[in-house]
Amino acid sequence: MTIERTHDIAMTVNGVHRSATAPARRLLSDFLRHDLGLTGTHVGCEHGVCGCCTVLLDGEPVRSCLTLAVTVAGREITTVEGLAEPDGGLSPVQRAFQECHGLQCGFCTPGFLCTVTALLRDNPRPTHEEVLEGISGNLCRCTGYQNIIKSVHRAAELKAGDR
Ligand code: FES
Ligand code: FES
Repeated sequence: MTIERTHDIAMTVNGVHRSATAPARRLLSDFLRHDLGLTGTHVGCEHGVCGCCTVLLDGEPVRSCLTLAVTVAGREITTVEGLAEPDGGLSPVQRAFQECHGLQCGFCTPGFLCTVTALLRDNPRPTHEEVLEGISGNLCRCTGYQNIIKSVHRAAELKAGDR
């Protein structure tokens, strides 16, 4: 019988120092969901295709199902649970998805919210083509994307302070 070696893995998640003991092969998605109890990050395909598991690593979107937790020890992770405003209110991106009905079942939504948060930080007023490109790594089986695209443009307006 092989005894699996475990590691103490610590990182900052949503601004809070978090740690847990896990095997070296623990995926970041499983570490967040099972070891830290942050089940907002969803797991769909588990091989890097759907984008459901997207989180922000030092601000950049990554597939947490393709990332080993040990490899991001000491770094900053933001999950969907960390996107809200400091007062607990919805962020502009979250509000826009709510307002424009940018979701149906919601399974893909945490990944889209993380992706779009980074997209609009880097490009506050994306063109239609830039929105399509920006969300091209996230799959949605329900919405047909039209309301997601509207949500991204609406989020850009909200972030800019337009009504
Ligand atoms: S679950 Fe990670 S990309 Fe699909
Ligand atoms: S809202 Fe159901 S998969 Fe996108």
